[in-house]
Amino acid sequence: MVEYSLINFKVRGDHSGSLVALEKGEEFPFDIKRVYYIYGTQRDIVRGKHSHRKLEQVIICTSGSCDFILDNGKERTTVHLDKPYQGLYIKHNIWREFTNFSSDCVVMVLASEHYDESDYIRDYNQFLETLK
Ligand code: TYD
Repeated sequence: MVEYSLINFKVRGDHSGSLVALEKGEEFPFDIKRVYYIYGTQRDIVRGKHSHRKLEQVIICTSGSCDFILDNGKERTTVHLDKPYQGLYIKHNIWREFTNFSSDCVVMVLASEHYDESDYIRDYNQFLETLK
């Protein structure tokens, strides 16, 4: 089984719409050090194609939809994200690719560490080596 979880955040909704607030605590797993987001990606583009040595991330499709392909070196699974109140929580040593972007897709990523290129593994064979 590829290790990941889907967190359903509390939605504060009323007649004016919906609001989701995220801070470390019971429903959010780490201190957020960095936020980035991706939009305007064409449907067939494949992004990601890397794993991390240490980083943890919660990934939220705040608008539209896309697919995350997660790979632990033995198995692959696809997670479809299309709910702005749902976070995909993945830790280190998971190879991820994401694709099948709707035209209105915005993917927001909340990360446990600052950007550090040395935390990335961008070669799939090297990823498999690190699992040994
Ligand atoms: P990249 O990791 O290749 O994006 P993706 O995996 O989504 O295809 O990042 C694209 C560029 O942005 C690359 O030059 C690194 C840079 N970048 C930052 O400067 N800070 C960040 O927090 C991230 C995620 C990327």
